[in-house]
Amino acid sequence: MDAARMQSLLNPLLAGLEEYTPIQPFEVLSRKLGIPASEIVKLDANENPYGPHPAVAKALADYAYYHIYPDPQQTELREALAVHLEDEQRGVGGGSDVAGGASRAKVPVEQILATHGLDELLDNICRLFLVPGDAVINTPPTFGMYSFDAKLVGGKVIEVWRKDGFHVDVDAICNLCNAESRAHGKAAPKLLFLTSPNNPTGTWLPDDDLLRLLELPLMVVLDEAYVEFALEKSRSPWVLKHDNLVVLRTFSKSAGIAGLRLGYGIIPEWFMPYLWSFKQPYNVNVAATVAGLASLRYADQMTAIVQKIRAERDRLQSALQDVPYLSPYPSNANFVLCSVEGFRSREDGDAAALKLALEERGILVRYYQKPGLQNCIRISVGRPDQTDRLLEELHRLS
Ligand SMILES: Cc1ncc(COP(=O)(O)O)c(C=O)c1O
Repeated sequence: MDAARMQSLLNPLLAGLEEYTPIQPFEVLSRKLGIPASEIVKLDANENPYGPHPAVAKALADYAYYHIYPDPQQTELREALAVHLEDEQRGVGGGSDVAGGASRAKVPVEQILATHGLDELLDNICRLFLVPGDAVINTPPTFGMYSFDAKLVGGKVIEVWRKDGFHVDVDAICNLCNAESRAHGKAAPKLLFLTSPNNPTGTWLPDDDLLRLLELPLMVVLDEAYVEFALEKSRSPWVLKHDNLVVLRTFSKSAGIAGLRLGYGIIPEWFMPYLWSFKQPYNVNVAATVAGLASLRYADQMTAIVQKIRAERDRLQSALQDVPYLSPYPSNANFVLCSVEGFRSREDGDAAALKLALEERGILVRYYQKPGLQNCIRISVGRPDQTDRLLEELHRLS
C-alpha cells in the first residue's frame, strides 16, 4: 500500500494544522557558531537561568525506585502542592483577597491535579470541552498553545485582540459572547483563554477584568505560568468560588525544571472527576515528581531566586530604555518585550536583523514579526552577568 493511500486515512481535522516551529536547540547553535554551549547567553525561552535548587539534583540522585511506575494519584505531590498554595497565599503583598472572595481559603488536595507540564493540562481541557466546530476565545498576542490545542480538536478560534498596552479587551469579549449566544444559542464560545502575566507582553490581568469575564457563561482558563514573578498573588483560591475557573501553574519557570515537565491545575470540584477519568495514568513521571517535591521543600529558596529575577528584570527594563532602537514594555514576568525601530532595517524587519546580530554574538532572544507584534523581540531575564553581556552587545550594535 502506498504512502498517499495511507495519508488519506489520516484524521482530516489534523490536515490544516501548522507545524510547531521549535526554537533552535542551543547545543546546535553552539556548534554552528563555534561558541561553547556554556558561553551562549540563552534568553529566548523564559527559562530560569539559575536552574533548580541543588536539593533537586540530590533528590534525583538519591531516589531508588525508578524501576517502579509512578503513583497515578500523585498523592504526595498533590498534598505538598496544597500546603504550598496555602503558604503562598499567606505571603506578603497581593491584592486578590477581596475580589476573589476566597483567597484566605485553603485549596483542597482534591482540587489539584499534576500534569506533564502545564501544556498537558491545556490539551486535556481542550479535548474534554471541545468537539469540531466549537468556539473558543483567544486574546492575542499571547501564548501560542491555546489556539494550537483548540485547533487540534477542530475548535474554532475567535481572536479578540488586546487593546493598547496589551490589556485584554473585556468589553469586546463580553459583547462577542452576548452576540454569539444570541446568534447561535448553545454554540456560544465554550472556553476563554487568559494569561496573567501574559506571554509575550508581560501584562497583568486586573481583578476587576477577571471578575467581569467570570460572569460569562463559559469556562475561563487562567494560565499563571509566570505569576510568581508578578507583585500580585495567584488567583488559585478563586477556583473555590468560581465553578467556571481553572488556574494553571508550572514548575518550568520559578522552580527551574522546564526540562522535567511538571505543571498543575487548580480545578473546580465538579470538573475533577472528568480529568481523573481522562488523564493518562502515569502522566507525571517519577523524576518530575521527585524534583517537584524537592523544589517545594525549598520553597523559600525558590522565592529568593524569584526575587532575584524580579530585581534583574527591573534593572534590565530600565537599562533597555537607554538603547536607542529599543522601546521596552512594562513587564510583570521574567521577560521583557521590546519594539525595535531604527536598528538596521532590512526586508525582514529590524527585529529579525537584531535577533540575527545577537545570535552571531552568542546571545539568543526571541523575535516576532506578526500581527500585534510587528518588529518585536522578547528578552528573557538572565543572570546579572548575562544582562551585562547583552547590554554591552546592544550598545555596540547601536
Ligand atoms: C504562558 C505559558 N503557559 C504555559 C507554558 C508552558 O508551561 P510548561 O512548561 O509547564 O508546559 C509556557 C511556556 O513557555 C507559557 O509561556
